[in-house]
Amino acid sequence: MDMAESKPRVRRYEADDVVVTFDPKLCIHAQECVRGLPEVFDIDERPWVQPQNAGADAVVDVVSRCPTGALHTERRDGGQDEAPITDVTIREVVNGPLYVSGEVSVVDDDGAVFREDWRVALCRCGASDDKPFCDGSHTAAGFTA
Ligand code: SF4
Ligand code: FES
Repeated sequence: MDMAESKPRVRRYEADDVVVTFDPKLCIHAQECVRGLPEVFDIDERPWVQPQNAGADAVVDVVSRCPTGALHTERRDGGQDEAPITDVTIREVVNGPLYVSGEVSVVDDDGAVFREDWRVALCRCGASDDKPFCDGSHTAAGFTA
């Protein structure tokens, strides 16, 4: 699966041993990253991602917890990148999206794949401007479930 996608909006943050890619459109501020490794992910710093501040294994571990797939890694040191997840799991977030993890392909009406990822957040409130993906609008919409 090509996770980094060559879309212009995807930003790259480079260290010698690992590159972190970030797609801002997919981030819903679930904050797994800033809680998991605050020395690397700090929204008060510029750039806000500084992968050189931790070991590559730790960076990969925290990035693999980003539930939306906004973050991914590319190892440069030959180390283990995110381990493929074969079983598909769907988790309901209270008053929020469905977190899907596993080998996910999202297809359009014609069956054409428009996203492949290990981690995807799907809208279940109907308010997202980026359907089928959650864009965080459930909070402003007052969605409860
Ligand atoms: S873990 Fe992912 S979705 Fe959550 S704040 Fe970080 S980048 Fe955004
Ligand atoms: S569930 Fe997040 S925008 Fe709909």
